[in-house]
Amino acid sequence: MSYNTMYFMLMWVRTASALPLVFLLMIHGVSSDDWTVRYSPSHICALKDSTVIMNCTYTYPTGHQIKEVFWTKESVKDGVEPSDLSEDPEYSQRLQYLGDQQQNCTVRLSHVTLKDSHEYYFRIITNKDKAMGIAGVTLAVTGDFHEVYLFF
Ligand SMILES: *[C@@H]1O[C@H](CO)[C@@H](O)[C@H](O)[C@H]1NC(C)=O
Repeated sequence: MSYNTMYFMLMWVRTASALPLVFLLMIHGVSSDDWTVRYSPSHICALKDSTVIMNCTYTYPTGHQIKEVFWTKESVKDGVEPSDLSEDPEYSQRLQYLGDQQQNCTVRLSHVTLKDSHEYYFRIITNKDKAMGIAGVTLAVTGDFHEVYLFF
């Protein structure tokens, strides 16, 4: 590194506006530039009244700041603005977000009912953009064994 380059970098650090830039370069190595949402497993079978944990991780582009994260039942394909499940009276009491505002989007749904059988998606809104998984996690809730027996 030449003396001139060194000098230039020092000048950067000395100006307040350069600080976020330096910070971005530092975190670049450990974070992804892409939007990703991964569910594991992506298909869950559960018995009625049981508690389900949907394991989920996500990444978003470097330089974005998370404004809001939430789970929704509406797909991007539905053409409507996805709504937050935790504000849906059918879910609000039973849904608990166990994740964080960085990479973990795990959620717990308790006392599942047959009506909960659905595909669920995780939604990320940053200061610059919005994204959500195109594929979601599919939950299939079955009745008790007695009902399964009658069904077959
Ligand atoms: C995400 O958070 C849940 C609940 O705290 C935890 O059980 C899980 O191990 C975490 N997953 C990752 C990938 O850190």
